[in-house]
Amino acid sequence: MQKYLPITLNSLRPDTIINCDVYLLVNVNGASRYILYCKGNSVFENNKIELLVRKNINRLFIVRDDQQKYFEYLESNFQNIMSDERIHPDERAQIVHSAATNLVKDVFKDPRTGNIERAKKFAYNMVDCVLRNGEASFSLLRIAKHEYYTYTHSVNVAAMGTLFAKNLGFSENDLGPFCTGTLLHDLGKIKISPNILNKNGRLTEEEFETVKKHPELGVNILKETGNGFKDEYTIILQHHENCDGTGYPYGLKKSEIHSIGRVARIIDIYDALTTKRAYSYAQTPYDALSIIKDEMSDAVDRVLFKQFIKFLGGYGW
Ligand SMILES: [Fe+2]
Repeated sequence: MQKYLPITLNSLRPDTIINCDVYLLVNVNGASRYILYCKGNSVFENNKIELLVRKNINRLFIVRDDQQKYFEYLESNFQNIMSDERIHPDERAQIVHSAATNLVKDVFKDPRTGNIERAKKFAYNMVDCVLRNGEASFSLLRIAKHEYYTYTHSVNVAAMGTLFAKNLGFSENDLGPFCTGTLLHDLGKIKISPNILNKNGRLTEEEFETVKKHPELGVNILKETGNGFKDEYTIILQHHENCDGTGYPYGLKKSEIHSIGRVARIIDIYDALTTKRAYSYAQTPYDALSIIKDEMSDAVDRVLFKQFIKFLGGYGW
């Protein structure tokens, strides 16, 4: 029997082709039945939406096998969803975040040119959205964090990093590569055993040496697929370098680390601290900033860190 997955009506744009069949769950003589509401290859017309709105129905269904097509539909409608003021910003963010997480998952599973191009396109859309509508894109960061996953971490770092970079005055030309680089910053982890990455306890020295390779591994994967990136590589390579030279892979000092690497480092630490992981609880934003200030102030760029605190403060944190 087919398995059905719920989707929200708000995620569907009027007069678009969704590429997967959409169903309604209805009650027929006391039994629940899935009824085809719109065929995947026909236009999802506005009157179909209005009818559901009138009936107060926001939950529709797709078959599980079509999940990938649905996420790709969301990806290509990113701008429309994020700028639709009829949808609550948190719901918009939820829709886009789930599409982004699925996209990063695809890139990690299969980092071929096609998927990396998708990530790049998504990142550039995200930058557009941040430039046009910072308020709505900030709700991307309010997504509840229940578990630690590399995928959601990647999306969080890209969303928060891009907003912060915009706040720092990065130009539009610099924001695109920055967002792509942060979205892919942990890509090299696909070459490392999940047993090490998700280990519940202290890593052995050997295991830690393996983890330290992920920045270079990430760049190698991208170079193999020949994407011709530049700043993206710098972010991936330097997101674990500390200003006092205690970071990896090269143990660079502050003056040797590019400013985009220093920005990425702060966001990476902050998101890791505020997210629940296999081996630690999620810190509150205040506690996370205190930990960075008290225990890692030599590791991060202090000027940037002060600006980061101000930046978060501006959004009520
Ligand atoms: Fe990393």
